Amino acid sequence: MASQELISKLENTIENIADFPIPGIQFKDISPIFLDPQLYEEVIEDLVAFSKGKIDAVCGIESRGYLFGIAIAVALQVPFILIRKKGKLPPPLVSEKYDLEYGSAEIETRKGQIKKGQRILIHDDLLATGGTTEAAAKLVKKQGAKVVQFSFLIGLKDLKGEERLKRFNAEIYHTLE
Ligand code: PRP
Ligand code: MG
Repeated sequence: MASQELISKLENTIENIADFPIPGIQFKDISPIFLDPQLYEEVIEDLVAFSKGKIDAVCGIESRGYLFGIAIAVALQVPFILIRKKGKLPPPLVSEKYDLEYGSAEIETRKGQIKKGQRILIHDDLLATGGTTEAAAKLVKKQGAKVVQFSFLIGLKDLKGEERLKRFNAEIYHTLE
């Protein structure tokens, strides 16, 4: 559990921008966190505490999931695996398609980087509808590894992302709501 002090600092740092990128969406700009290395370190400590001793590897989701994910992996001295949007990684690949509000998308990992039986943390900066994270979990599972944890800097409550992830029977944590 994050301290009230950390939560307050983050609430004062993350910028909420109305109607971006499209009308009706409130964008959470996390970039001011990276202007404050001490705050960044506190966020990493919080996310690391959740996963310590429980995982064999971290899968981070492009692109904002890399900003914290790789630091978590280094702190825990476990491998970090990039889950990328289609067309960025060279073959051989393992892919997963998923539906967006309009159209569909696809994410990929390099084949062989996730090992059978590994306990995996899937990390992303933000949980909204859960569509991206759900696809990431399917991608991990079909490579024979087990998703044991999901972590996010921010978990938006009203979009029901957590409900969508329940079927994976993994722990879910977010520093901030
Ligand atoms: C945002 C955010 C999460 C995802 C959450 O990423 O960083 O990855 O959307 O949405 P969901 O729970 O509804 O799937 P985005 O696709 O905007 O790309 P970026 O991380 O590369 O900025
Ligand atoms: Mg993202």
